[in-house]
Amino acid sequence: MKVVERISQARSIIAETKTAGNTVGLVPTMGALHAGHLALIEAARRRDDFLVISIFVNPTQFGPAEDYEHYPREPARDAELAEEAGVDLIFAPPPQEIYPEGFTTSVTVTGLTEGLCGRYRPGHFQGVTTVVAKLLNIVQPDRAYFGEKDYQQLIVIKRMVADLNIPVEIIGLPTVREADGLAVSSRNRYLSPEQRAVAPRLYEALQHGAELASQGASGSEVEQAVKKMLAKVPLFEVQYVEAVHPNSLEPRGDARAPMVIAAAAYLGETRLIDNVKVEEGSGNA
Ligand code: PAJ
Repeated sequence: MKVVERISQARSIIAETKTAGNTVGLVPTMGALHAGHLALIEAARRRDDFLVISIFVNPTQFGPAEDYEHYPREPARDAELAEEAGVDLIFAPPPQEIYPEGFTTSVTVTGLTEGLCGRYRPGHFQGVTTVVAKLLNIVQPDRAYFGEKDYQQLIVIKRMVADLNIPVEIIGLPTVREADGLAVSSRNRYLSPEQRAVAPRLYEALQHGAELASQGASGSEVEQAVKKMLAKVPLFEVQYVEAVHPNSLEPRGDARAPMVIAAAAYLGETRLIDNVKVEEGSGNA
């Protein structure tokens, strides 16, 4: 496994492996690798011959009051985990390699980025789409792998790739969870024992919503029920609960499944997000 910081180094290694006839898979990450990242890496390794991961804590997707400075950075541990997982190349550029002096271009996906997390994190998705577009241009992978944990991000990236004709297949993979249901996240480490103890209730409430949806409840009914359940949990400060269409991300309102029920909630300073998908007509019997 190689670790490189420069775009030119990454490009020449990737060009060589492509010339040898290998397909290339890319897993973009911000590092602090955990079981969620490793599931993407495993899926990529099964599918593609040459596996690239990027590790870049992208400053442009953090708001001024967010945790860019304090985001965990652990390059040595990441390299060990990546090596064990069969990664061929880590691309870990410093910020000025991605955003050199004079950088002014950005990629904006409208509509899809306006609801859910986009409403509360202005500029976040523009930061994400800009950096992902750059990573896709640098690596030029056959496939890039993303988690459904960040469902809105996945849909926004699929839209960007379609709209800009970027020649890559975007693969979405299911959320990896702790044994008690909490979605694995690099931010879980910030939870106090008391907060950690109640954290799985977010997923429980979403699952309850999914059950109602599969019994025929409308989007608004599901939202109400999930909010009501979360309101009873101590320490939780709910930011939003929304039931949206899985592709358009439009609120379902009076409409029924299919829907994705997505939520964001604070436990103290730590913001957790999670979602569950309910397919059309699921369990309507
Ligand atoms: P990061 O939070 O490091 O996540 C990298 C990838 O891992 C994303 O596709 C995310 O959805 C996925 N992931 C995180 N937790 C997961 C879990 N519990 N189960 C399954 N997949 C999970 O998302 C980003 O970085 C950045 O926005 C990035 C796309 C790298 C652009 O900067």
